[in-house]
Amino acid sequence: MRQPERVVVAESGAMAREAAALVDRAIRTQPDLVLALPTGNTPVGMYTELVRLHRETGTDWGGVTVFNLDEYLGVAPDHPESYAAYMQQHLYRHVNVPPSRQHIPNGLADDPDREVARYEAAIEAAGGVDLAVLGIGTNGHIGFNEPAQELIAPTHVATLTEETWQRNFPHLVEAHRADQLSARPFRQAYTMGVGSILQARHIILLASGSDKRAAIARAFQGPVTTQVPASLLQLHPRVTLVLDEAAA
Ligand code: GLP
Repeated sequence: MRQPERVVVAESGAMAREAAALVDRAIRTQPDLVLALPTGNTPVGMYTELVRLHRETGTDWGGVTVFNLDEYLGVAPDHPESYAAYMQQHLYRHVNVPPSRQHIPNGLADDPDREVARYEAAIEAAGGVDLAVLGIGTNGHIGFNEPAQELIAPTHVATLTEETWQRNFPHLVEAHRADQLSARPFRQAYTMGVGSILQARHIILLASGSDKRAAIARAFQGPVTTQVPASLLQLHPRVTLVLDEAAA
């Protein structure tokens, strides 16, 4: 069985440069590359570095297509906590991906079933994902595919676990405890499923920091289990792990 390629670097800045170099090289090799891209804290440095490479070396994103892994349900694209806004802030404002090739589930879609079908069809129409870049949750989630008895293969609506919600919205946790929230926002999200992710031709997973170490170990040194969604990546023939020493 082919083991994932592991690139271990000293710290998160080096992880960002390594990841950006891989993505940048892929775009230069294949100008019509189809990417799946993550959000969260981990990839912020990678985006900064990709923007620098675009500015300083002229990497052309004009033929690149991007699909985001996930987006919150019920959240408008211009909401500051939406992943659409994240992508604008960290990437799209700075590089020349044509807006028609910037794909993300529409958090405000009227009909979630139609929205997930639309998203899967758009991925297929683009010819599938060439390169997916992933982060990982402390509980081993990828995208918003949370640990569960069963996982859903295609793009679908997922419910965040309590752990993930509290990690992603620390500023709402107090308000929730103090009963100041009538309903809890950001509990549901559109996510590419493990099937849509595993269909990518090459997958890069990024992790930095000691709080990711246990998830990385469970995902790549333990059994394949839906309780650690990232462990399904063991089934993929081409995975590159870019880790800093604390996560490795
Ligand atoms: C979020 C995202 C994932 C991301 C993960 C880790 O919930 N849906 O795509 O990989 O959590 O986030 P962070 O990089 O901030 O630790």
